[in-house]
Amino acid sequence: MTSGAFITFEGGEGAGKSTQIGRLADALRPARTVTVTREPGGTKRAEAIRAAVLGGLARPHGPFAEALLFSAARIDHLDRLIRPALAGGGVVLCDRFMDSTRAYQGAAGGLDPDTLAALERVVVGPTRPDLTLILDLDPAAGLARARARAGSGAPDRFEGETLAFHARLRAAFRAIAAAEPERCVLIDAAAEPDAVEAAVRAAVAARLPVLAGPLAPDKERGDAA
Ligand code: TYD
Repeated sequence: MTSGAFITFEGGEGAGKSTQIGRLADALRPARTVTVTREPGGTKRAEAIRAAVLGGLARPHGPFAEALLFSAARIDHLDRLIRPALAGGGVVLCDRFMDSTRAYQGAAGGLDPDTLAALERVVVGPTRPDLTLILDLDPAAGLARARARAGSGAPDRFEGETLAFHARLRAAFRAIAAAEPERCVLIDAAAEPDAVEAAVRAAVAARLPVLAGPLAPDKERGDAA
């Protein structure tokens, strides 16, 4: 059986993660079984928790309570969707994962690193991403994109935070990329979507050679005229 691959996408609001996940999934699908999923969410129970947390239910309880709820959602997501897909040799593309807890509840929310590390140990355990693509974008530009996308709807729990909060997030994601270069690749998300896609493909092909074949330009695959 081919080995599974777990790829997570991270970054601030409006960085274009979902567009890029869709494009990567399309590129890989002819060759591999691809599961596209997101956090918080991905399973029925986790989506219920998502609705509560992004609706602001846990906000008055502080970042630890929010981290516990994200963790509860993550446990179900890992058990019911991510681990079975990986065990079956699939490729899992996940929109946000443990680094969002580190950045949002930790660096920006103030939850201490020891608590976060303990949570990761018990919740994520050995199911760490094989590759994490961090889409890096100026927070003012990202929030403008996210708000344009939301139209007249109210911002969710985190979109409504201050620009300073979002600046801390960006710094946190960049620090994660610098601290774990073997797992993470920082991608410039201010570029045009085609250029971001090319950078995503290049990173995946370089870091996960098992996926390089389906991502090679047509002529290298030998199916050009
Ligand atoms: P979503 O609408 O998916 O945001 P985006 O389109 O920017 O990915 O909402 C997810 C929100 O939840 C986002 O603001 C980040 C936040 N979040 C955390 O605070 N902690 C976490 O562990 C996760 C997974 C997400």
